[in-house]
Amino acid sequence: LQNAFAECGYDRKYAKVSLSNRPDLCEYQCNGAMAAAKAYKKKPIDIANAVVEQLTGEHASSVFSEVVAVMPGFINLKLSEGFLADYMNGMAADEKLGLGEPEKKETIIVDFGGANVAKPLHVGHLRSAVIGESVKRMGRFLGHNVIGDVHLGDWGLQMGLIIEELRDRKPELPYFDENYTGEYPAEAPFTISELEEIYPAASGKSKVDEAFKERAHQATLKLQKGYPPFRAIWKHIMNVSVADLKKNYSNLNVDFDLWKGESDAEPYIQKMIDTLEAQGLVHESQGALVVDVAEESDTKEIPPCLIRKSDGASLYATSDLATIVEREEDFKPDRYIYVVDKRQAMHFEQVFRVAKKAGIVKPETKMVFLGFGTMNGKDGKPFKTREGGVMRLEKLIADIDEAVYQRIMENRTVSEEEAKETAKIVGLAALKYGDLSNQASKDYIFDTDRFISFEGNTGPYILYTIVRIKSILEKYKELRGADAKVVPIRPAESETEKALQMALCRFGEVTESAFYETAPHKLCQYMAAVADAFNAFYLENKILSEEDAAKQAAFISLITLTKRVLDTCMDLLGMESPEHM
Ligand code: ARG
Repeated sequence: LQNAFAECGYDRKYAKVSLSNRPDLCEYQCNGAMAAAKAYKKKPIDIANAVVEQLTGEHASSVFSEVVAVMPGFINLKLSEGFLADYMNGMAADEKLGLGEPEKKETIIVDFGGANVAKPLHVGHLRSAVIGESVKRMGRFLGHNVIGDVHLGDWGLQMGLIIEELRDRKPELPYFDENYTGEYPAEAPFTISELEEIYPAASGKSKVDEAFKERAHQATLKLQKGYPPFRAIWKHIMNVSVADLKKNYSNLNVDFDLWKGESDAEPYIQKMIDTLEAQGLVHESQGALVVDVAEESDTKEIPPCLIRKSDGASLYATSDLATIVEREEDFKPDRYIYVVDKRQAMHFEQVFRVAKKAGIVKPETKMVFLGFGTMNGKDGKPFKTREGGVMRLEKLIADIDEAVYQRIMENRTVSEEEAKETAKIVGLAALKYGDLSNQASKDYIFDTDRFISFEGNTGPYILYTIVRIKSILEKYKELRGADAKVVPIRPAESETEKALQMALCRFGEVTESAFYETAPHKLCQYMAAVADAFNAFYLENKILSEEDAAKQAAFISLITLTKRVLDTCMDLLGMESPEHM
């Protein structure tokens, strides 16, 4: 189309093609003649006609089966079935389904997970883990060097709270004896279940006991300054808690390349502050160090970024900025993606501005904040247990698995054993899809019944479609056995066959936009569209009972590609599919 515009003497830039918004009339449309008409002072229809003539005349393009100009100057396009089939076969032959390599291979840090050590993982952390994992996988699939960092909250007040609570409970421990000079025990003075109980107890106490709160604050400062006994307790807290976190994340099929945390930024804080000071960016405000980040073009107030409190304590921004210094030294990322609750948007806006202003990152480094909304219960309020407490992630997963298991057992065709296994896979996919299918920034309602339904835009619906294709392919193998020949995908001969191919060919474009716009929901929408197109095709065409072996083999090739596309999308979103359902 660009060539055709150029041949007619118009700028190539007018040859913009989009998916048709009148699928009854055409598959794609180009509205460029309208825009060109203004620039060249001509009638749009004349431009459209000239372009159409180029594409249909003597040197007609093989890309289209239909190119027509319609008033006032639209160009309506239909793809040639032959061209489309070639494209399908190209996808099928390519490991990356035709996606190719990125123009520039980027190093990308995805900062996600963000669990706070020693506090139980709750549903709030679920979103970061699920969304971040898919962003990481998509980036990697596109060919970038993607590094996932869990960036634990491991340096805050919770540590002081735990230390002081431990002192109250077990004052005899050597950590609390100032005259102790020996080695500290290798064994932690608590188990994970004790630790899980200690934090909420301490946090509750600090709310009613001012003196205790102050002690916890002082203990936190001492820890941050490196006081050996507290460092020793901190290491125990870290070991016990991180082992548990690893188990939890792995149950979610989420993993990290780096298990760093706020504490790792400690050694970079001074260097970061020196950089800011050397450039005269910091000033004192009521004893605290701040950097002004407001810009003239701001439409809302962006307050100064707090770098250090008057008592010398570090803040959230301090550790995030120091972490950027560390990451620049280690990786020089081209892009940072933070997957964090959208209520932290202001914090990241401030941090990004300081990092750019101070030259901690290059001007062209992309700093992306992927802020997600709240997961609410059916009552529209933040998700709670029936008793009103914070819902533990493990409990949430167990509940959804159980619901899927019940559903499978209702019309069971498999052993109890297999049903349990299947329920785990389907349950996790239901949970993740329920989350990922919403635009991340929106709040959404956690609704087990809807998430596990086999109908509608749900994980189980997609899985069911994949399992259906699997079973057709298995039966085909049984049926034809060794006779089965692998043939190319054929030019579509029916509307549903073409519609399926048209859906498949969008894979690369959708994956790219889902990643670069950090919008995994686009990939979910896409999977649902492919599943719909497949199911419509399946309804209209007999595959297993098809007598024409060549036609049947071509169908098999088409649904094999369909399955690959769906499997790949599932994998990019961090989900798996079971053998049977
Ligand atoms: N631990 C934080 C929280 O629970 C999230 C960390 C996000 N990442 C970051 N670099 N600040 O809110």
